[in-house]
Amino acid sequence: MEKSPILIGNDHGGYTLKVTIVAHLREQGYPIEDVGSHSEAIVRYPYYGAAVASAIASGRASRGILICSTGIGMSILANKYKGVRAALCSSSYQAKMTSAHNDSNILCLGGRCIGVFEAIDLVNNWLQTPYEGGRHDISLGLIGEAEAVNFSENHWMPELPEEK
Ligand code: RB5
Repeated sequence: MEKSPILIGNDHGGYTLKVTIVAHLREQGYPIEDVGSHSEAIVRYPYYGAAVASAIASGRASRGILICSTGIGMSILANKYKGVRAALCSSSYQAKMTSAHNDSNILCLGGRCIGVFEAIDLVNNWLQTPYEGGRHDISLGLIGEAEAVNFSENHWMPELPEEK
């Protein structure tokens, strides 16, 4: 079981699925920190993605979930943070494999792309599958090399805008 809270962020396109996933994970006993947004009002997803991705990059949290309409914008944003390995998944198989092989620390979902039952099964698989290590450490080491050259030490962490 996770010790640090799982951070979860969304925009208007991910709000409905977020509510279901938060309820499911809390029922399972996972500590959850919901950074918003908190309604279907139109918001800009990079703010919420940044709140989660910067917490992972700074070491304040070890895992997060980001949901927008497609999951694509959130995954693009999250992977701009050092140390973040964000995986956009639409199947339980992908979720299992990205934990086992990529040790992904953010799961991105498309709130308007997958059904609720598939999403819950996918999240369960992602959280419950351990990283295999071994030969996969080589690839993660290479990603780390790329980050060391490409990224600065600072994290973009804007103030969340006021929701209407
Ligand atoms: C918002 O309409 C939409 O662009 C966003 O939810 C996300 O899917 C972007 O990738």
